[in-house]
Amino acid sequence: MSYENIEVRTEAGKVGIVTLNRPKALNALNDALMTELGDALKAFDADPAIGCIILTGSERAFAAGADIGAMASYSFVDVYKGDYITRNWETIRSVRKPVIAAVSGFALGGGCELAMMCDFIIAADNARFGQPEIKLGVIPGAGGTQRLPRAVGKSKAMDMALTGRMMDAAEAERAGLVSRVVPYDKLMDEALGAALVIADFSQVAVMAAKESVNRAFESGLSDGVMFERRLFHALFATTDQKEGMDAFVNKRKPAFKHS
Ligand code: CAA
Repeated sequence: MSYENIEVRTEAGKVGIVTLNRPKALNALNDALMTELGDALKAFDADPAIGCIILTGSERAFAAGADIGAMASYSFVDVYKGDYITRNWETIRSVRKPVIAAVSGFALGGGCELAMMCDFIIAADNARFGQPEIKLGVIPGAGGTQRLPRAVGKSKAMDMALTGRMMDAAEAERAGLVSRVVPYDKLMDEALGAALVIADFSQVAVMAAKESVNRAFESGLSDGVMFERRLFHALFATTDQKEGMDAFVNKRKPAFKHS
């Protein structure tokens, strides 16, 4: 499939890479881009050879937010009736394989929210995160007020949402928003290294792990622990569990069949 606002490629036949590509607008996230992104993610999710997906942008910007020019003249009735601006953003949540955000430069507003919708964030040392919507007379509209406090706690999330300031990569790592920070020229190597590690594991176990960690954000502790236990027990029905444990016991490398 050919796209106008993103680039898509695979690495080693098992990692899907989506690069946001609207450089003149710092990868501002308009409707066309988000539709293409959703289509590309769904295609990788459905491809049995792909075990992990990386979402990235350019050196200057992961994404500078929803497209302000496109939404500036909307009325309440426009956006409410049409469910405009973020209506096609939820696709990323339905992707069952892991999605790593490799973030360089600006990740602002919807760009920060998009990164937070991914499963974890690896940041370049020049990355800058923020929810500056307050400066535009609005608030985050793609989950920022919900995911940011879960990631960094109430105080810092309030600080970011109320002042609109940016946080650099070091602060984002200290706050737990990103899992790793590397120099910009190592960003894709680092993300790819992680993706290849994940892609070689049992896809069934990887999907279960993702589903279970996500459950921690959407339920109480007892429900989450029970959910995890059910999935843990279910994995004993897979050939990959037999293979993984037999390989350990017999001191050999496992060869997962994703079944
Ligand atoms: N939407 C549309 N265009 C954008 C954009 C956005 N979010 N962010 C940047 N651009 C465009 C600029 O208009 C500019 O275009 P022109 O060259 O045609 O003028 C180009 O990208 C480069 O931007 P700047 O000249 O502003 O570059 P800079 O280095 O001086 O500043 C910046 C960079 C700090 C990121 C600044 O562009 C900026 O503040 N952008 C807006 C960030 C923002 O407010 N994001 C939140 C959007 S609302 C939202 O996302 C809602 C939601 O929750 C879903």
